[in-house]
Amino acid sequence: MVLNAADIAGTSSLRSDISHLLQELPALPTVSTRLLSMMGRADVDLRSVSALIASDGALAGEVLSIANSSLFGLRSEVRSIVQAIAYLGIEKTKSLAWTVAIKNYLGNALQIPTLQRTWRHSLAVALLAEELAHWTQADGAEAYTAGILHDLGALGLIAMSPPRYRQLLEEAAAAPASILDLERKHFGLDHCEAGEFLAAAWNLPSFTGEVMRLHHAPLEQPAFTPLGLIHFASRGADLLGFSVVNRPVEPGSPNALEEFHDQLPPRRKERVVFNLADLELLIATRVNAIES
Ligand SMILES: [Fe+2]
Ligand SMILES: [Fe+2]
Repeated sequence: MVLNAADIAGTSSLRSDISHLLQELPALPTVSTRLLSMMGRADVDLRSVSALIASDGALAGEVLSIANSSLFGLRSEVRSIVQAIAYLGIEKTKSLAWTVAIKNYLGNALQIPTLQRTWRHSLAVALLAEELAHWTQADGAEAYTAGILHDLGALGLIAMSPPRYRQLLEEAAAAPASILDLERKHFGLDHCEAGEFLAAAWNLPSFTGEVMRLHHAPLEQPAFTPLGLIHFASRGADLLGFSVVNRPVEPGSPNALEEFHDQLPPRRKERVVFNLADLELLIATRVNAIES
């Protein structure tokens, strides 16, 4: 069951933490929430979408800059949001608009290297989830959106207090403590709880709320669902060097990407050539294309 904001606010054990969050969390820019609800409709009106993106100068500028990055390999420079949507298609534009909106949400906190790791992890999970979705012929854009949003709760806690979250990550790097336990100690709730609350409060698609709430729990549903993809992509990103905590992967820990590959139907498994070093290079190149 996915709780809505009212249900969550009514849960007594979380009530004080949630009201605390409500007061301290910076709001997501209105243009981003309107964009998501507009793009969630089956009959997306491209003119309205481009007008909305263009109405926010900073958002429009970053969307154009990423659209022109090496990530998309466009032959000629796009100079307007209308052109960008025409070249990239609605789904890519939507992923891209979300990437920019979430990055901007973090603002100056991104200047702190420890916190930048959280952002790069989200980006790597989004790109890896998109890749894993291609392995299974699932919806890559939906997987990307789930990936970019899966740790939104952590980004919210960072936006609330960058120094407190930095201290938490430094503690996590120094000792093998669970990041969820450290978040509860420092903030009174963990990023899964915070993320689910934000998904409800900001009217994000219901599957993103489930992804935020359950991505660290043992997987109890098929691997080829949005939650399954993010579960494996988040663990896979750690394996590829994009972990939130600056801590080496423990030797002998299970290889999430091999586990995922093993679950592919036999015919897909034959077709998907999987090599860890190649995948690492692919994701690092894409992360850097967006970051540069
Ligand atoms: Fe997480
Ligand atoms: Fe994650």
